[in-house]
Amino acid sequence: MSGFPLPPNATIGIVGGGQLGRMSAMAAARLGYRCHVLTPEADSPAGQVSAAVTLGGFTDPATLRRFAEAVDVISFEFENVSAEGLDLLASIRPVRPAPSVLRISQDRIDEKTFLNAAGVATAPWRSVETMAELEAAVAVLGLPSVLKTTRLGYDGKGQAMLRSAEDLAPAFERLQPKPLILEGFVDFAQEISVVIARGADGSMAAFDTVENRHANHILDLTLAPARIPGAADEMAQAIARRVAEALDLVGLLAVEMFLDAQGRVLANEIAPRPHNSGHWTIDACPASQFEMHVRAVAGLPLPPATRHADAVMKNLIGPEGMALWPAAVAEPGLIPHLYGKTEALPGRKMGHVTRLFPRGALPGDLGVEAALGPLLSPLLSPLGVIA
Ligand SMILES: Nc1ncnc2c1ncn2[C@@H]1O[C@H](COP(=O)(O)OP(=O)(O)O)[C@@H](O)[C@H]1O
Ligand SMILES: [Mg+2]
Repeated sequence: MSGFPLPPNATIGIVGGGQLGRMSAMAAARLGYRCHVLTPEADSPAGQVSAAVTLGGFTDPATLRRFAEAVDVISFEFENVSAEGLDLLASIRPVRPAPSVLRISQDRIDEKTFLNAAGVATAPWRSVETMAELEAAVAVLGLPSVLKTTRLGYDGKGQAMLRSAEDLAPAFERLQPKPLILEGFVDFAQEISVVIARGADGSMAAFDTVENRHANHILDLTLAPARIPGAADEMAQAIARRVAEALDLVGLLAVEMFLDAQGRVLANEIAPRPHNSGHWTIDACPASQFEMHVRAVAGLPLPPATRHADAVMKNLIGPEGMALWPAAVAEPGLIPHLYGKTEALPGRKMGHVTRLFPRGALPGDLGVEAALGPLLSPLLSPLGVIA
């Protein structure tokens, strides 16, 4: 077991075997570290590029112990490890970010309580345990509003939009387990996010604010930098710093935010790990979000999160995304990334493509569409304009 900063050839344990772990492991390898992945999946995206794999679930104490004892520090690409599991890992090796940070991000009620206590605005919200509480919450927050499970939601799963009184009972029945959280609907102008790294010494490096477009509740496009007013940008950056400091974060964190029609910035979710909206940094920054993640976890200095180019990132999702792969590798100027997943299930993130522009030259929506050329669906472009 090594101290910090981790010396070359030390081993970083990554909980979770998906693409975020894969790209973290690739960044770690470049810095001379080994990664050891804990995953139940035999041929996982992260396992394929790591020095070692512990094959097993995230709940079995013997597996967690064996994994922890084999590594020098533990980090995550998958956040939903149980409280007991986190405590067990932390009793054996340093865990970065700390279990307390993961616990907050695992539960939407804890997360919003934490954000509001740190002085960060969110959509108005109420905890909902019973149908009577849901009716009372809707009376306060109005319709439309969004009912969500508090745990394990992702890519829009575990939530329902309530538009009329008839929607309440079916959504309340369907969403499990209770309690749920009801959020006031934010009529957002844009969705934006900031990825920030923070070291054990309190130093921070925040990437530029980016703009996110979703399709079917899954991130489709990220535009870097966000084309938003300077005041909103400053607010987004300030929120990211405040959240990282209030959490006493050691590691990397993404803050998803809404920019509303009045120019206010509201925090939506935090994710204490690399984030899909930061994938563009691999190609557009000297140190990507994955390198920042590894540096923060290993105790290396954090360089400034500068950007040498503007960028657009497009996700390749499911069978439709894989159908675009030949075009993605054939088109000059598109930078293709594939995650090594064997089955292109619907909604599954299979890879992504980045297109760089000279700094300051990110075009408008039509220019972005033109730049993604072969990746546009023949009928509807990713930006929602009929081609
Ligand atoms: N309160 C809200 N008002 C408006 N849109 C919302 C609200 N909450 C979520 N959404 C939309 O749903 C998407 C997914 O919700 P989110 O809370 O980020 O859950 P997850 O990403 O875990 O599925 C958001 O990116 C946003 O487009
Ligand atoms: Mg989200």
